[in-house]
Amino acid sequence: MPGKVSMMRSLQDYDISPETGFLPPEPPLRRLLNPYFDPWESTMDDFNGLLLAGRLRERVRKLPILNHKQLKSKPEYRRAFLVLCMLSHGYVWGKHEEVSESLPPCLAIPWTHIASHLGVCPVVCHASVVLWNYKPLWEDGPLDLSNLAALTTYSGSVDEAWFYLVTVAIEAAGAPAIASIIKALDHVQANDEKALIADLTHINSCLADMNVALARMSEKCDPYVFYWKIRPYLAGWENMADAGLPLGLIYEGVDNLWDAESDEYADMSHLSEAERMLQQYRKYAGGSAAQSSLIHALDVAFGVEHHPTGERKARRPSNAQRLDRYNNMPPTNTAVELTGKRHSDTLATMERTRSQEEMKPNRNNFIQTMRKYMPREHRHFLADLEKAANLRPFMLNLQAMEEDLTEQQKSLLEAYNGCLDQLKAFRDKHVQIVSLYIVNQARKGPNIPHGGFAIDHTKATTNIKLTEKAPDTDSNSEADDAPSKPNILYPQTALSTSPSLSKSSSLHKLNNLLPTLGLAKFVDPESKVVRGTGGTNVMPFLKQSRDETADTKIALSQPVDIQAPTQPVSQKISWTDWLRK
Ligand code: HEM
Repeated sequence: MPGKVSMMRSLQDYDISPETGFLPPEPPLRRLLNPYFDPWESTMDDFNGLLLAGRLRERVRKLPILNHKQLKSKPEYRRAFLVLCMLSHGYVWGKHEEVSESLPPCLAIPWTHIASHLGVCPVVCHASVVLWNYKPLWEDGPLDLSNLAALTTYSGSVDEAWFYLVTVAIEAAGAPAIASIIKALDHVQANDEKALIADLTHINSCLADMNVALARMSEKCDPYVFYWKIRPYLAGWENMADAGLPLGLIYEGVDNLWDAESDEYADMSHLSEAERMLQQYRKYAGGSAAQSSLIHALDVAFGVEHHPTGERKARRPSNAQRLDRYNNMPPTNTAVELTGKRHSDTLATMERTRSQEEMKPNRNNFIQTMRKYMPREHRHFLADLEKAANLRPFMLNLQAMEEDLTEQQKSLLEAYNGCLDQLKAFRDKHVQIVSLYIVNQARKGPNIPHGGFAIDHTKATTNIKLTEKAPDTDSNSEADDAPSKPNILYPQTALSTSPSLSKSSSLHKLNNLLPTLGLAKFVDPESKVVRGTGGTNVMPFLKQSRDETADTKIALSQPVDIQAPTQPVSQKISWTDWLRK
């Protein structure tokens, strides 16, 4: 019988390097050398300046629509994707500008094609700003914080560079663990306990290095700068009603009616103008290290299961939990979400079968959804690893034989638990960081004394309904700039704002065409809720994730875990027999 491990292809087939892991084996391209792409690269040369001068949109609108087929290699595709992530998020969020509800075709069209080529979504992600955004200072130097620089940042700050580079260093530190995970699968299959202890010891030391790197975040990334100057650009367009994108973002010129299954374009003639407009909106979550395949791989390898927030013990979620983004992510296409009508969501359609079949063990929707923001091959690696993972059943089997364990088997259990201790320590530190970098910053608000200059949103007019303009802004366009408006400097970070709509906006038009859509329902002006990525629900989610890691440890002299693999534990079959079955 073919073993479970044979389900796995070689690491290189999954675009994973045994040395650099999910980071590319060669440092990312610093620019696209083909002169055809000069319009993009020269805009990137001026990127921070253009954003600062408030003229990025002006420059972008002059860009030609470049053909992605001129990109020849994977490194070129990755560089192009990073460039378009920078330009597009800079364009949408601006710097102290009103959010843009649409992306022009010169960005939207190539970005969508390139994203589809790489198997990611056209939105900023961990892969773009971390995996494909660094350069070693000395070519022959180590991939650690003594030798890394970022290729590009939104804010032009060292804090932002450090934020990405610490994450690069974590990926690099964890990289050799991936090869050991694969070896461990083989050694479980061969019942080679000694070799397995060596694999786990090696993974433990990689995890320890990852923890050292994570602990350095606060050395050069200031929480205030992170929350108010960096994080806003990493926001996507899902859950962004308060920031003025209740339906997501319009990708101009991108036809959403293509169906990947049939490879045909749906007939749109029966759709009304409003329905056609709706089809252009897309919702994507923003960039988050929750999209790191490394952490997912460790969870899968060690059998850490994540449940919907609040469901770790109690199985029935409350209404609030059901509405939480960590339990329930909306579809990426707004039209589907609103009308319930199925049509192409390219990625979702292509991978529907895979995800239903292969993504069962991890039942936390948020963590699961983050996989679609990973490069395709990395996502496939996790899916295959899920099928091949045999470490936890092996350990559970040892646990079941507790009274008869040899010294070596006890050491094996200790080695397994040791890795989980390290992973839990990682999540402990991460919870601390999030508390400092997000929850505290959100609570303090923007106008804190040490140099912050964002508008104090508590003085803003917060009760403007989407369907009506505030009385003082109706007659006077200059009032658009008045400080009585919601926080336009950092709308993505606002705790409670509601957008006013300019009469020329598509959203305004759509709202008139489809009043029954009730766009206003997307905005709760009374809400004081800190949004998903930044507050109320984030801490329970992260703490639960940490506790689930600790719960995975094997406790001896405890009642046997009923989740044991496929065989009732009481039968105490040997591991080799279990594998043969
Ligand atoms: C300033 C530093 C960081 C902040 C403020 C931060 C913030 C957050 C937040 C708010 C979440 C919740 C998910 C979301 O809403 O996006 C999250 C999740 C997560 N973050 Fe971070 N993060 C930071 C650094 C890192 C780093 C360096 C890593 C390492 C790869 C990491 C890995 C994760 C993972 C794996 C999750 C998913 C939850 C879990 O698996 O426990 N984060 N982070």
